[in-house]
Amino acid sequence: MKITLTLNGSKVTHDVEPRETLADFVRDRCGLTATHLGCEHGACGACTVVLDGEVTRACLMLAVMCDGRTVETLEGFRNHPAMEVIRKHFHECHGLQCGFCTPGMLLMARDILARKPGCDADTVRYELSGQICRCTGYSGIVKSIVSAGQELAGKAPAKA
Ligand code: FES
Ligand code: FES
Repeated sequence: MKITLTLNGSKVTHDVEPRETLADFVRDRCGLTATHLGCEHGACGACTVVLDGEVTRACLMLAVMCDGRTVETLEGFRNHPAMEVIRKHFHECHGLQCGFCTPGMLLMARDILARKPGCDADTVRYELSGQICRCTGYSGIVKSIVSAGQELAGKAPAKA
């Protein structure tokens, strides 16, 4: 089936298999490998993308379901102002170890801080409950998001 969607701001058209997932579509057809595949059944969040503005598990969506819709992967946030702040705090607060979960964590962090600006650690832990870090680096991840949220909300000066 031929589908056309807006991917990171550009229209893309491809022939896809009816059973092809959105995750395989962005990785294998479009070369956007920031979207990782871990569990492939909706449990880990490694495949998180943004579909029509909502964070979504790309392993649970079929590419054909995204025809005519808007998809953003982490690559699309390269120059996004809030994401730049979030990336900086992940770096400073040791928010990653192997990095496998990191693309999903970054997209989820941006979503959490957009909905709950400057939220506290308990809120971040609750909101992140669907994202798995196989390295169990949760304390650094939570600290990174809280810290980024404080900077974005103007609650604390940026760290050096
Ligand atoms: S790979 Fe999609 S949720 Fe784990
Ligand atoms: S940093 Fe390794 S899976 Fe999270």
